[in-house]
Amino acid sequence: MTDYTPVPEDRFSFGIWTVGWQGVDVFGPGSRPPMAADRAVRKLAEIGAYGVNFHDNDVFDFDASPAERQGKIDAFRKALDETGLVVTTATTNLFGHPIFKDGAFTSNDRDVRRFALRKVMDNLDLAAELGARTYVCWGGREGAESGAAKDVRAALDRYKEAFDVLGSYVVDKGYDLRFAIEPKPNEPRGDILLPTIGHALAFIQELERPEMVGLNPEVGHEEMAGLNYAHGLAQALWQGKLFHIDLNGQHGPRYDQDLRFGAGNVRGAFWVVDLIEQSDYDGPVHFDFKPPRTEDDAGVWESAAACMRNWLILREKVRAFRADPDVREALRDARLDELARPTLAAGEDWRSVRDASPDIEALAVRGAAHERLDQLALEHLYGVRS
Ligand code: GCO
Ligand code: MN
Ligand code: MN
Repeated sequence: MTDYTPVPEDRFSFGIWTVGWQGVDVFGPGSRPPMAADRAVRKLAEIGAYGVNFHDNDVFDFDASPAERQGKIDAFRKALDETGLVVTTATTNLFGHPIFKDGAFTSNDRDVRRFALRKVMDNLDLAAELGARTYVCWGGREGAESGAAKDVRAALDRYKEAFDVLGSYVVDKGYDLRFAIEPKPNEPRGDILLPTIGHALAFIQELERPEMVGLNPEVGHEEMAGLNYAHGLAQALWQGKLFHIDLNGQHGPRYDQDLRFGAGNVRGAFWVVDLIEQSDYDGPVHFDFKPPRTEDDAGVWESAAACMRNWLILREKVRAFRADPDVREALRDARLDELARPTLAAGEDWRSVRDASPDIEALAVRGAAHERLDQLALEHLYGVRS
């Protein structure tokens, strides 16, 4: 039992826009005042975060003059220097301004696409300067509400073109940055391109520099599509593509809730922590949530701190689960060790199984012993085993 206090080795990070979210939604204006990026940095450091992620326009406004832009960057930088918080990640706001109403990299309007590339390049310069290693691309406006208005195959050509151009930019500039695509099925567009982890993984294989591009999957986005987030993460890991993660909470297929991590699908969160704990993922443990509109400033920090606390609570539980001798036995009974063994032995080929003739009846009646294993997991989660 610990007191669940975050330490830098936990590598917890937050988007500046998360705690800074004013609570604007489609039915009403913000319920909280704006928060300057430097204040977000100082408060995040106070509650134990290690790093931050930012959109260009979290730091300075879309229409800031060069002097205003520099002033805001200087204040942001000063807060980073004073707190020791690390910029792990950066991204571009390609969704807020009305110019992006039909998308950025895939807008039907070519001038918008050219401007979007420029906006990303501007922020890649800043990201590199601030030491970010990952550059997130969430294409929230890349999509459509109707059929003929978007030629999806042409739009994917333009999407690929954007990553190819930006890849050359990063290489030519000598930046140590990789891109992480963040899939989402819908919202704000009716249907968004690259809607799930699977779509994005397939897309990456078509790029000029697939090695420079991976994923930033978000809990809520996969669950909005009814998918198993931990399974998606596992496939991204298996393909060497888990560059970053956006952790939050969601209650099944509905609007994007962006709840604090650990709220929503609690059982799903348990398996996410278990997977990351067992993997070689070494990126930031990054939270992308929105403190509900009901909260004042104190509630904002309460919910941010709870994201980290819930991760640490679940981490303690998954470690206890994996260390439990009953679980080890249940894993063997469920034949997990057998799944890890290749189906063919060394030196065998298809001939070795061409005439396989096991005892079909015996195999058919043999139980898979999954229920005991899952019940043990639930009992760890429910807190009756430790
Ligand atoms: C969402 C998205 C966004 C992006 C972020 C990065 O909730 O739909 O997660 O929050 O992650 O804006 O561009
Ligand atoms: Mn996100
Ligand atoms: Mn989201």
